[in-house]
Amino acid sequence: MTAQIIDGKAFALGLRARVGELAAAFRGSAGRPAGLAVVLVGDDPASNVYVRSKGKATIAANMESFEHRLPAETSQDDLLALVERLNADDRVDGILVQLPLPAHIDAQTIITRISPDKDVDGFHPVNAGRLMTGLPGFVPCTPLGCLMLLEDQLGDLSGLDAVVIGRSNIVGKPMAALLTAKSATVTIAHSRTRDLSSVVRRADIIVAAVGRADFVKGEWIKPGATVIDVGINRTDEGLVGDVDFDGAASVAGAITPVPGGVGPMTIACLLRNTLVAAHRNAG
Ligand code: GUN
Repeated sequence: MTAQIIDGKAFALGLRARVGELAAAFRGSAGRPAGLAVVLVGDDPASNVYVRSKGKATIAANMESFEHRLPAETSQDDLLALVERLNADDRVDGILVQLPLPAHIDAQTIITRISPDKDVDGFHPVNAGRLMTGLPGFVPCTPLGCLMLLEDQLGDLSGLDAVVIGRSNIVGKPMAALLTAKSATVTIAHSRTRDLSSVVRRADIIVAAVGRADFVKGEWIKPGATVIDVGINRTDEGLVGDVDFDGAASVAGAITPVPGGVGPMTIACLLRNTLVAAHRNAG
């Protein structure tokens, strides 16, 4: 193995500690803690774990956590009514509705109803538009965490060739926008991309967010490239990423592990976004 392992867990712990200190200062000056409301509909086991760890991390960072666990049969109208109540609640600075939602609820309708000023996920079309136009707004937590790791590893990203594999609203599209804003040359690849291995081979930066275990092969990677693996796939061998780790680690310059890479950054960035929301909402 030649690649340096990018320790997202350690980076995230440092970020959480800094946010925790600033959140304590906010609490002192505003006379109330910053507050994050997390809404879970149904009992998807993975979502359950994520929501529990978000709540714990919120409290550990000196903020208030409001957890709303609703049954899977909850109607779209009832969920919209809860979102409206949270929009109007001055103790709540950030609102996160955990995805995926049950099939009878339209996620986009729910996301669009969250106040853009409390949309700490950065999924509201207003925040997506702000990101695309370079205006200040909330940036989705996973791509924000990836960008922090990339800049920590590489410094200036200007002029580098970046390939983002995956075009979701949650990761791929905002990741491409963030890298473009940093003056990287960005290609978005996806399931219809022809000759993906050749597209990946020219990249200095590879961000893999396809949701398929060991999809990106070591032979595709340019020697010395930096690989960010967003995938969290449950397999018989445990959690694995979207990148064939052993193959990639023998050629890449640096690579994030799964687990312990991007995953911890997502929660750290959520806390960061919540503190930013609190300052904006209080100010
Ligand atoms: N499901 C998986 N990742 C996320 C996320 O970052 N935010 C929300 N709301 N749901 C998710």
